[in-house]
Amino acid sequence: MAVDLLLGLQWGDEGKGKIVDVLTASYDIIARFQGGPNAGHTLEFEGIKHVLHTIPSGIFHPTAINLIGNGVVIDPAIFKKEIEGLTPFNIDIKNKLLVSKKAHLILPTHRMLDAASEAAKGKAKIGSTLKGIGPTYMDKTGRNGIRVGDILAPNWEEKYQNLKSKHLNLLKSYPEGTEMSLAQLEKDFLEGVALLKTFQIIDSEQYMHSAQKEGKKILAEGAQGSLLDIDFGTYPFVTSSTTTAAGACTGLGIAPNQVKEVFGIFKAYATRVGSGPFPTELFDADGAKMAKVGNEFGATTGRPRRCGWIDLVALKYAIAVNGATQLMMMKGDVLSGFKTIKVCTAYKTASGTQDYLPYDLTDPSIEPIYTELPGWEEDLMSITDEKAFPKSFKQYIDFLEKELGTPIKIVSVGPDRKQTIFRG
Ligand code: GDP
Ligand code: IMO
Ligand code: MG
Repeated sequence: MAVDLLLGLQWGDEGKGKIVDVLTASYDIIARFQGGPNAGHTLEFEGIKHVLHTIPSGIFHPTAINLIGNGVVIDPAIFKKEIEGLTPFNIDIKNKLLVSKKAHLILPTHRMLDAASEAAKGKAKIGSTLKGIGPTYMDKTGRNGIRVGDILAPNWEEKYQNLKSKHLNLLKSYPEGTEMSLAQLEKDFLEGVALLKTFQIIDSEQYMHSAQKEGKKILAEGAQGSLLDIDFGTYPFVTSSTTTAAGACTGLGIAPNQVKEVFGIFKAYATRVGSGPFPTELFDADGAKMAKVGNEFGATTGRPRRCGWIDLVALKYAIAVNGATQLMMMKGDVLSGFKTIKVCTAYKTASGTQDYLPYDLTDPSIEPIYTELPGWEEDLMSITDEKAFPKSFKQYIDFLEKELGTPIKIVSVGPDRKQTIFRG
């Protein structure tokens, strides 16, 4: 078995980019399996912060191959900007980055439809990143989509114009419309398509199969988080792809029996950006402190992230859905200075206490039940060995490990590559 998966267990932004970058040294191939430029994956090393949206987080490693899999949706305009952003770093990008022929394209009109659909929802809006994700996956499952491989075909222009006209008709049904300028979006899109054509566009599932036969080590990188999964997330406040482990199989062509480790990544607290239920959300000074110390602003949209205590009901559910074999706890440093740390271990609901994620998380009767643990004062950011953890921090990790029944193998105490502690 040659494929490991890394995916978020909460509502995204757990720190996937940082850990994929750290782990890339042990892999030959890093492959993104779903999502699109709604993702913002942050990496920090040598004093520079990088944010990736479509390109896998192994791109800064000197030898690893990075693959954008068939399950990903690509906006050529954003792809072009990302590539341009990497120019100063002398990456051999044309040899190190591969793109699946079967990945779907986000058209300018998908973005317009996303905006119009959100505007029409008013207060019930999802809080989408407005990158066109929902409409693109709708066209994919509706069998109308355009794939990367199509840009190489002689009838590409016709395909594009046909789908565009269909979208423009659809847009007429939204009275609010959208203020986006199609002309500008289209110019950027077509320039992006021209650049995309110069990359290695491949039959990615065949590439993956050969790589597995050759014994290559592969890490599949997820985007978003398990609670944003189209099936298992807090529907309808979710994204439009399978963010959980099964998404790596459909998004890369990996057979389920080829998956080895499933790394589940979570923050020492919880955040959510956009709308939707969040039982442990804080509206007080504690939440404000997490947001400030944790610098909780969306890496893609800059929106402030909502913050709250860790939710073990939701985490256990995510671990079960993904079959997580190992956990990684991020941003423990942000909790320094809290007198007590709260951990949600169950929900009080109208029908009694529940430790399994309820069908409707917006049910107003749901109240988190907390266990309180002592906090710690020490700054964790310069710790390099778990032996130096303050007693209460160690106690926090032990408590979570026991409750979650899964080992926490990595503890992150800062945004930099180096602020990563592997546990024995
Ligand atoms: P991703 O979408 O899962 O890759 O996560 P994001 O990059 O959107 O958000 C994670 C944020 O937390 C980024 O700004 C990271 O630089 C930062 N970060 C990652 N790990 C740590 C950590 O252990 N401590 C602190 N303070 N920041 C971290
Ligand atoms: P990474 O990979 C956090 C959220 C949006 C919105 C909902 C639907 O960086 O963890 P969409 O644009 O997909 O239609 O938005 O999902 N969302 C994310 N939240 N991190 C992400 O990605 C997200 N990608 C989408 O805020 O609530
Ligand atoms: Mg992010």
